[in-house]
Amino acid sequence: MMIDTHCHLSSKDYENLDEVIKHMENNIMIVSTASPCDIDETISLCNKYPNVYGTVGIHPEFADTYNKKDLEKIENSLKHPKIVGIGEIGLDYYYKKDNAEKQKELFIRQIELANKYHKPIVIHSRSAIEDTYNIIKKYKKTGIKCDLHCYSGSLEMAKRFISLNTFLGIGGVLTFKNEKKLKEIVREIDLEYLVLETDSPYLTPEPFRGHKNEPYNIKFVAEKISEIKGIDLEEILIITTQNALTLFDINI
Ligand code: NI
Repeated sequence: MMIDTHCHLSSKDYENLDEVIKHMENNIMIVSTASPCDIDETISLCNKYPNVYGTVGIHPEFADTYNKKDLEKIENSLKHPKIVGIGEIGLDYYYKKDNAEKQKELFIRQIELANKYHKPIVIHSRSAIEDTYNIIKKYKKTGIKCDLHCYSGSLEMAKRFISLNTFLGIGGVLTFKNEKKLKEIVREIDLEYLVLETDSPYLTPEPFRGHKNEPYNIKFVAEKISEIKGIDLEEILIITTQNALTLFDINI
């Protein structure tokens, strides 16, 4: 079994959504929500497909535009039995930096919801890893787990996050020919801290780079981890699946 711990599945992006989900039969997908507008669709996918779970959250790109009702909606959605985490949330200074204080406030308010409902946090961090780390360290309760989605920082920072109860989400970037840093991280970090993700419809792994991504393509990421670590693919799938079940507290 494979678990795609981070994908965006909506009928906006996929005309053949049903087929894309069927392709993952006997596997699990965790649909991540970035915009408050997408929460309803995430929940309806969870209701429709037994192997779809979701996380809900407001992405930092909405830090200037979200309102109180959106946060209330997030909080209400956390009561759904298949909404297994809060995310993706975090900081993105690459996209916009002049509203950093607003981004931080939105991030912290959602970490507080994760603390209140004992849900793991799916973190988006771009060009903001130091601030992301400091906020997680200061505001997250110790027992709350994190998934550092599409990790792109240093090995040293990966280790600091792991000490805060964090898993690293490894996706298609690992398969890109010129990507060296992430390969080093995968080589050095123990498998027990890694989970697989696609970030579909983005970041398609080789050999399909340039095409639209879909959850089934995590098998290429798993194969690359197997090659880098010199561990059988079967074992990569067993351990990363167990990690994802632990991270999101899913009992199957
Ligand atoms: Ni994402």
